Amino acid sequence: MEKLIVKGGTRLKGTIPVSGCKNAVLPIAVAASILGDGVSVLHNVPNLTDVKTLQAVLEGLGATIKLKNSTLYIESINHLEYEAPYDLVRKMRASIYVLGPLVAKLGRAKVSFPGGCAIGPRPIDLHIRGLEGLGAEVNVEEGYIYAQAERLVGTEMNLIGQHGPSVGATANVMMAATLAQGTTVIHGAAREPHISDLAHFLNAMGADIEGIGTPTLTIRGVKQLRGTEHTVISDDIEAGTFIVAGAITRGDVYVEGITPEQIPAISEKLVEAGVELDWDANGVRVTTPHEIQPVDITTAPFPGFPTDMQAQIMGLLCLASGTSVITENVHTDRFIHAAELNRMGANIALDGSKAIIKGTRNLSGAPVMASDLRAGAVLVAAGMAATGETVVSRVYHIDRGYESIEKKLNDVGANITRVNE
Ligand code: EPZ
Repeated sequence: MEKLIVKGGTRLKGTIPVSGCKNAVLPIAVAASILGDGVSVLHNVPNLTDVKTLQAVLEGLGATIKLKNSTLYIESINHLEYEAPYDLVRKMRASIYVLGPLVAKLGRAKVSFPGGCAIGPRPIDLHIRGLEGLGAEVNVEEGYIYAQAERLVGTEMNLIGQHGPSVGATANVMMAATLAQGTTVIHGAAREPHISDLAHFLNAMGADIEGIGTPTLTIRGVKQLRGTEHTVISDDIEAGTFIVAGAITRGDVYVEGITPEQIPAISEKLVEAGVELDWDANGVRVTTPHEIQPVDITTAPFPGFPTDMQAQIMGLLCLASGTSVITENVHTDRFIHAAELNRMGANIALDGSKAIIKGTRNLSGAPVMASDLRAGAVLVAAGMAATGETVVSRVYHIDRGYESIEKKLNDVGANITRVNE
């Protein structure tokens, strides 16, 4: 297993380029492989293990996929297999995205039930509710989800769950509805930038989706979708992570390839914490001239503060000049990184869905362990700001969502070495 050795006390200075959005490219690649006929070409695709895992799932179903530099060439599947096996689905929850498209295209699907992960049980009841709403018959047996339908039929539905809109269920049902008979209206749809990018891609393939970016999506079913060319949006969470890395090291970095519209809540809370963000047409310059101020944060679906930035901002607030409270409302168990930050001298107390962070003067390096990709990212950022050396293990979590994280950070003055344990 690989580790990252992070030498502390480095101030980041320079330009960090943002890669393509992981959570956009995953459903878009599924739509291109299963729903569309012909070849699709996706640009600005990040080189991540999650993309490689999905490539294996889609090739297992019969698609032909090639990743060259950051362009993904996808030839859709004529003789579609309908089964996504456990050994691939267990590696990545996003494999569940093949469920709706397979039923829409083939009339049947057999997908291994996706495992939970460190941040909570990750149920799929809303995915199933939505597909049943379209007329699919769905059963769960022996760890597999079986779904079938002669033809999906459009309907009006509400996809809000107990934690609000679901990104995954919105993607799954929206994709399935593009080939259903008649019109589907989804109330309580997720509005994350990657859901909008998926909807734009589907429309470029010939789908008829209205209400993109709003909580109500109207999808008029069409007969066929065709392969197309698309440039994936940049990754808002990767950008937010690098902004925090610049702030926590009190550096002066330019995060290139992001717009304020993609990260409204992240920008608002970082400015409230005393980070200075100077925007221009291509990105944002990040400086932190004064002390980090404590702020209270509640995670929420877009346009609220994203749960995928909760760990990163917690790391920054460990060095604030007061006490901050973070309330995690999206995932049920997403504070595992708090214990690791405490090992570095942070002072974080947990109380159910709340984390109380008492700011300290500094952090000190320590051996720590990544529990999910965003937790791993905050440990690297904290390690750069800490005194001494931090060794981050289970780096495979980080590689799932960050393209060569140590190269991007070392290019702007970090001192991070990847070693094989
Ligand atoms: C997506 O996961 C992201 N993953 C997650 O990012 C992200 O944390 C999450 O959306 C929220 O933004 C991808 O896009 C590949 P949800 P997803 O369905 O779709 C509950 C990262 O760091 N829920 O929006 O699984 C669920 O338990 C990853 O890149 C149900 O109850 O998230 C959670 O509490 C981590 N029933 C909440 O809704 C369902 O059927 C939001 O989940 C589905 C979800």
